[in-house]
Amino acid sequence: MTFVDSRDPEAFRKAITPKTRAIYAETIGNPKLDVPDFEALAKIAHDAGLPLVVDNTVGVGLVAPIEHGVDIVVASATKYIGGHGTSIGGVIVDSGKFAWNNGKFPEFTDPDPSYHGLKFWDVFGNSPGWATSPSSSSCACSGCAISDRPSARSTRSSSSRARDAAAAPAPALGERA
Ligand SMILES: Cc1ncc(COP(=O)(O)O)c(C=O)c1O
Repeated sequence: MTFVDSRDPEAFRKAITPKTRAIYAETIGNPKLDVPDFEALAKIAHDAGLPLVVDNTVGVGLVAPIEHGVDIVVASATKYIGGHGTSIGGVIVDSGKFAWNNGKFPEFTDPDPSYHGLKFWDVFGNSPGWATSPSSSSCACSGCAISDRPSARSTRSSSSRARDAAAAPAPALGERA
């Protein structure tokens, strides 16, 4: 991971190497409270075949990064959806616009041994959303990264978060992602 000056989009471009897999920024940076130029960062990312991922935790309900070219929006569910501190969690919203089949993301395009050779991109393609509409990224993420690997959620945290989500206002669930 390479940290750059978030006020300088060109610093992001200069930091990209053949190993880079995403550009990552925060809507309203913690603790600087700065707002990056999403359109400039999206262009730099897309020119390099990379997704722009934005942590919209502080901007939930206020800022819609996908409308400004962002590919993936993440937010801490611990804050606005939970708010109680009993369990941590997060939300990932895929714009459905990024071409994960550009050769840089074999985990989406190559056969996955843990799913009997399933190719996520071939089966699910790309579609916006998260659990409500399967896409390559959401299925690979929920199927492999979360369910099968050590980041699996505890049942108690899952149950707590499901109740929080049922009670949360729509913007907190990423309606304006
Ligand atoms: C912008 C931002 N994103 C994500 C997090 C992580 O939140 P948590 O791990 O509590 O869900 C924090 C924590 O302060 C934050 O400020």
